[in-house]
Amino acid sequence: MRVVSEGVARELPALWYDQGVLHLIDQRRLPLHLEIVQAGDLEAVCTAIRDMTVRGAPAIGAAAAFGMAQAQLRRDDLGHAAARLRATRPTAFDLFDAIAAMEAAAAVGQDLAVAAAAYVARTVDRCRRIGEHGAALLTEGSRVLTHCNAGALATVDWGTALAPLRVAHRAGRRLFVYADETRPRLQGARLTVWELLNEGIPHALIADNAAGLYLRRREVDLVIVGADRIVANGDVANKIGTYEKAVVAAANGVPFYVAAPASTFDSSLPHGDSIPIEERDASEVTHLEGVQVAPFGTSVRNPAFDVTPHQLVSGYITEHGIFAPGDLGRLQQLSAR
Ligand code: MRU
Repeated sequence: MRVVSEGVARELPALWYDQGVLHLIDQRRLPLHLEIVQAGDLEAVCTAIRDMTVRGAPAIGAAAAFGMAQAQLRRDDLGHAAARLRATRPTAFDLFDAIAAMEAAAAVGQDLAVAAAAYVARTVDRCRRIGEHGAALLTEGSRVLTHCNAGALATVDWGTALAPLRVAHRAGRRLFVYADETRPRLQGARLTVWELLNEGIPHALIADNAAGLYLRRREVDLVIVGADRIVANGDVANKIGTYEKAVVAAANGVPFYVAAPASTFDSSLPHGDSIPIEERDASEVTHLEGVQVAPFGTSVRNPAFDVTPHQLVSGYITEHGIFAPGDLGRLQQLSAR
């Protein structure tokens, strides 16, 4: 991804692996500080996933793949390593997909550093292709609403929801993006807007509660979000607040697209009600950037994700093209090849 830091533009992935060490852009420190942290072993990778140094479904999967490589390097028990990684965050399917891929590679004697690098290269290529297919939805002057951060930070490079915007913008199309701030962790305000600024894509950061106004005024032409897990019937788990945007988009006749690679599709679960939803710490709601905003002693619920029923999805933007909810069987066949 293009990163502009202290006036200098350079290409940087969200994470990379070098001689047994995982290097990660610390996503908790953006946008004010661009810091690279190192995770030297499996426990450090687990902590980085849990505390959201690295976040976003495909990026979590990539980190886990390299965590498995570290475990193999140290001759740790791979079953134990896989269990540790699986316990970090329950919702994003890419985590489970990546660990399963590494277990399969280890079972046939592969070097997991090589297998993880190939897995991550495939993820990045899938996101690039999502960008190419999704760009077809964007015409001159398109105004797009997005939620959370489904950009390069969330996928190692390109992004899912942001990939079509990157491709169309680089092709010279004039676009405008409404970026939801995305409470409680502010991935929109801190990360999506940072990526859009780095790319030079015109945008406005909006409070989560403002999206309905722009959807009703028809100042948004389409919504594109990423996904943490898409199950067999097409129901989508994504960042908390996504469902509300989908409902308001449907109420106003605005198309609602979900962009995701094959690694996010979990055909083992029949419908969205069976997706495990992560509950995170109460302090994420009671505090804003470390400052307490709610009274002591209040009770809090803090689900990190919600589920959007497939009936509200206009299409899934994937590396194989754009699919309607009723056409996911064909997507599954293509992905299996
Ligand atoms: O809790 P996070 O920041 O990991 O949640 C991320 C999201 O919900 C993204 O929209 C999703 O992972 C898609 S990333 C391409």
